[in-house]
Formats: sequence, structure tokens, C-alpha cells
Amino acid sequence: MDKKFKRTTVTAALPYANGPVHIGHLAGVYVPADIYVRYLRLKGRQVLFIGGSDEHGVPVTIRARKEGISVQDVVDRYHYLIKDSFERFGISFDIYSRTTSEVHHRLASDFFRKLYDDGKFVEQVSEQFYDEQTGRFLTDRNIRGECPRCHAPEAYGDQCEKCGATLSPEELINPYNAETGNPLVRRATKHWYLPLDKDQEWLEKWILQEHKEWRSNVYGQCKSWLDGGLHPRAVTRDLEWGIPVPVEGADGKVLYVWFDAPIGYISNTKELCDARPELGSWETWWKDPETRLVHFIGKDNIVFHCIVFPAMLKAHGGYILPDNVPANEFLNLEGNKISTSKNYAVWLNEYLDELPGRQDELRYVLTANAPETKDNDFTWADYQARCNNELVAVYGNFVNRALQLTQKYYDGIVPQCGELTDFDRETLSEFRGVKERLEELLEGFKFREAQKEAMNLARIGNKYIADSEPWKVVKTDPERVKTIINISLQITANLAIAFLPFLPFSSGRLFTMIGMDATGNEGELWERLGSTDLVPQGRLLPKPELLFTKIEDEVIAAQVAKLEATVRANEEAAYKAAPVKDTIPFEDFEKLDIRVGLVKACEKVRKSKKLLKFTLDDGSGQDRTILSGIAQWYEPEQLVGKRVLFIANLAPRQMMGEESRGMILSAVNYNGDLSLTTTMGEVKGGSQVG
Ligand code: 2FM
Ligand code: ZN
Repeated sequence: MDKKFKRTTVTAALPYANGPVHIGHLAGVYVPADIYVRYLRLKGRQVLFIGGSDEHGVPVTIRARKEGISVQDVVDRYHYLIKDSFERFGISFDIYSRTTSEVHHRLASDFFRKLYDDGKFVEQVSEQFYDEQTGRFLTDRNIRGECPRCHAPEAYGDQCEKCGATLSPEELINPYNAETGNPLVRRATKHWYLPLDKDQEWLEKWILQEHKEWRSNVYGQCKSWLDGGLHPRAVTRDLEWGIPVPVEGADGKVLYVWFDAPIGYISNTKELCDARPELGSWETWWKDPETRLVHFIGKDNIVFHCIVFPAMLKAHGGYILPDNVPANEFLNLEGNKISTSKNYAVWLNEYLDELPGRQDELRYVLTANAPETKDNDFTWADYQARCNNELVAVYGNFVNRALQLTQKYYDGIVPQCGELTDFDRETLSEFRGVKERLEELLEGFKFREAQKEAMNLARIGNKYIADSEPWKVVKTDPERVKTIINISLQITANLAIAFLPFLPFSSGRLFTMIGMDATGNEGELWERLGSTDLVPQGRLLPKPELLFTKIEDEVIAAQVAKLEATVRANEEAAYKAAPVKDTIPFEDFEKLDIRVGLVKACEKVRKSKKLLKFTLDDGSGQDRTILSGIAQWYEPEQLVGKRVLFIANLAPRQMMGEESRGMILSAVNYNGDLSLTTTMGEVKGGSQVG
């Protein structure tokens, strides 16, 4: 860390309290932030890790209306659920508070008032979309309509999810209330705007010139906003839920959620410092130029943290600005976008319940596959492979070998390290540099690489044991085995230290297994990372346990099945029957000759993946052949003896060198699956249907 800083305020985006947190949130924000903070603490730096729930905004109000409960009930439910899941998962916030707190309401309100009093806002009356039936103005996200670019029917007022276009509600064709479907009118309303256009110049200098070191995705997004030219942004909304705008003539208006949420970082720091005076004044953590401010966020929050919030802080005066904003890209799930509203996610609370004691497995996988530079995909198969092939087979295996050998040859007593061979020296020199390498990567927010570096220690250890072959050497040179085991135990201790920021639960267990009481002196241990005298000779080690256990196939299959069920449920819920075709006269219907056919034989059609060949008893005394594109859904054998409905008077068609005389009727399910039609009772082949 830069010498000019004495302490660090680390914030992690405040999640909306409209649902539980999921692996996308964890990979994007909370796991990297937690690794970073744990590392700073190990280095003995002064640091505060600030979190909390974002409880304002429109989504919580929608959920409340849907469920017929109060908004406060919704945010209470999710705030406590999220807080509890973070705790269980080991996200080590110094405070996890909420934006409905009194402290926050006061601070955010005062913040607005100061900007207002100092004339920093522009007041403007504009036309906004209004639902006359509910008597409500609507926010961008709550307005839907046809996308002007790709003509998808259900684009949002701020974005089209189909083509990705950034939109404003006025651009939508036939806008309507997303919740009620009511058409919208425009109505004049007054709002307060932050004139960001006036900030253009200093923001350009501050970001584009002075923060070239920011991650390229962050820098690039800022540059593109700045290149496009900044415009005034409304910081108030016509809503009932939120922090009332503290000026006269603002009845029914609240602060825009993106105005109050980042102030939540400050309020939560204040709440923490007021409760724990030994941390000093909250202002030190937000106003002292010797404090370094770092925001961990996902990429959708970049503009708010790099442009809008800094502009607010600057307009207020007296605050420091973020020194870095290490934003991650997105994590997808099994190839699809994670979605709270569609319930398509791996929810942290469910993971903790369904895979108990496996916090570190998820932390490991999310870091190994972190979307640091591009979007990444989480799959359960990859989760299983990384757990079994890396945590179990590399890290766990090495530790287990070292500990079991100690038990086997020395009854669990750490043997003495004798004279070193060249190979020993080589091995030791390989891991001596680990501290420096890890620190450089962690300081540079390269958590993926850093974790790889820690894992590399286990690889070095495995190679060391495999190449030194203590089980053979014991027969010829028992003294030598002592040294091999001693060195292996030193590597084990180093692993426990190196993994402290990443896998805190396993490190804790591993310290116990090597008889080290790390609690309270992790920082000292970190300083000794890379040394070879961590586990003293003569110490009696407790009986070892496995550090990691295999993830069985059934566990993975159950998780995959759960996601598939969600996808099916969503498809079913989204299904709308096709519009009925134009009316036809009865005579037209009578032209169709629909009949029952008894399936005498059924087989696959050579060279075709789609077709099955049916031989039907159609009551004529002669077999009838019909080819039907149903092979994907049925095995031919299961259809023999069944009755199907078919059109008997359709002109014959040549298909794959066969003549097909008619068409077998199938229903097309919501997802495109075909299902053959049949009769409910026993009906003879050739019977007419009508
Ligand atoms: O995108 C989100 O989930 C927002 N609730 C993040 C807010 S971050 C901060 F400003 F509080
Ligand atoms: Zn579109």
C-alpha cells in the first residue's frame, strides 16, 4: 500500500433487500472484498470493512405489493436473512447495517440538505410517466414497453434485456406499468438534479489521468461515460418508500435510491464508530486524506461509484474520494444469466443449508473462477471438479500425507529436521518467495492469481513427498525420513497461513491439526509466511482429520436438477397460448378426416434423427405407413400397441425415400416438446374423430 495512507475504508456494495444474496453477488463483490480485508488485517493495517442492506428503491415495493405485505416486512425479512448468510459464510464485515436505520436517514437527509443549501442542485420540472389508475409516478425500471431497437415486447424503461440497449422510458413504444399493465400518461413533476455536466472536467482529470491504474474494465467504462458527455441526473423520485426529500414543497418525493445508498457506507461507518469509540471518529475514516477508500462492486455499479458518488462527495466537500474501485464483471450460472426475479441462482442461504460446512469450497471455486476481467460461468460440474481435483486431491491430499506420515512413523510427534539435501534446499527456496508474490497480487486486487499462488504451495509439497519417497527411504535411512516429514509439516503450516485470506475455515482447522493456536496472532504468522520453523520439533500433534472431503455425484445432480426445475417453472409461467387462428366454416372442418390408428409397428428411420416410421391398423384391412417427427420424444418400442390420432386424407408425401400417408397428431408443449395424442377409451383402429 501507498505510504501516504495510514488506514483503509473498504466498502462492499450494499445488496438490495429484495431477495437473498446469490453466488453472483459473492463472486463479484463479497468474496474478493473479504479476501482483501482479511489480508489487510493480517498485515496489521488499520481497516474497516463496511457493509449493509440497500433497503430503498422500487424492487422492494414491488415485492411487498405482490406478497400483500408491508415494505418494512420485506426489507426486514431479507436484511436479516442476508446478514445471517454473510456471517455463516465468513464475510468478515466490521458492520452490516441497513439503509432504513435512523442514523442513515438523518445522515442522508442532512447530506441532501447541505447540497441544497449550497445551491448545488438544479431544480427542474419535467414530464414523467404516470399511472392514472394507481395514482403513481413510475420509475424507469417499472415501465415496460416495446423496444425501439429490436422490438422485443417487454423492454424496461432503462434497458432492453433482449438486445442490451440502454434506453430511457420516453423511447419505449406503447409504455405501460410493468406491475399492473395499465397504460401510462405523462405528467409534470418537479425534481432536483445533480448537474454532472459541471463535473466533467475534474472527473476527466481525476479518473483518466490520475487513475490509469484502475482495472481496465472500470477505467474503460468511465472513459466511455465521460467521452459521451455527462448530463444532469435527478436525485429525487416520486415514491412513497424512501427518505423524504427534506425541503419544502417536496411532499410525496423521496431521495433516489442511488443517492442515499452510497451514503449508507458513511452512515454505517458512523454507526460502527459511535458504538466502538476505540475506532476513532467516523470522520477520520471518510475525511482524512490519509485514509484510503476502496469500493468493491459489480460492473453494473461502476458509474455510480466512479462518477456519481464522487461528484456528490465533492459537491458536499470535506470527503475523500475512492482511491480504487476494483469492480468485477458478471458470473453466469450454467450458461444463463443469474436472475433474482426469475429465482434462477444459487442462493447463499440455501447453499449453506444444503451443503453444510462447505463454505471454503464455494469460496475457493468462486475465486478460482472469479469474473475479474470478463464474465465467467459457474457450473456445478466445475464446482465438483475443482473441489475434488484441487482441494481434495492437491491441498487436502498433501496435508493428509504429511500428517499421516507423522502419525505412522513418529506417533504424531514432530520429528527433528536433520541435514538438508540439495533437493530440500530447492524445495524450500521455491516456497520462500510465496509471501512476496501473494502480497503483490493481493495489493493489485488479483485474487484469482493470488489463490493460485497459495495452491502452488500444495503442489510443491506433493511433489516434495512424492519425489522423496519417505516410505522407501525409511527402510534404509530413517534419519532422512525425519527431515522429509519435518519439512512437509513446515509446508503444511505455510499452507494454513497462505490460505488464511481465502479459506479461513480450513486454515482454522488446519492450525488445530498442527497444534498451532493462531487465534489473535494471525498477523504475526503472516509475517512468518515462507519460514521453515513454524512447527517445532517434539510437538505432539492431535489425530488428523480430512481437511476436505469429496463432493459426490448425487450432490451435484440434485443441484443441477433444482436449477432445471426452476427453468421449467419459468418457462411454464411465461407460456402464453398462441392466438387462435381465423374462424373457419364448419364445412372446412368436415373436410378433415381424423381417425384413430392402432400402432402395429414402429421403428427409427435410417439416417434421420427426427423421424419414426409408424405402421398403423387404420381399419381398412391394409397397413398404413406414416412418418412422424417424434423420434426425440419416444422410443419406438414404447408406442407399439398404442392408439394415435391421425389425419387420414392428407395428400401422401415422400419423406426419406418412404411414402407417408397422413399425419399423426401431437400436442406441442410450452417448451416445444411434442406429446402424441390418443383416445381415453379403447377405440377400434379406423374410428373417426370429430
Ligand atoms: O446494485 C445493487 O445491488 C445496489 N443495491 C448496490 C448499491 S451499492 C451502494 F451504493 F450502496
Ligand atoms: Zn431491444
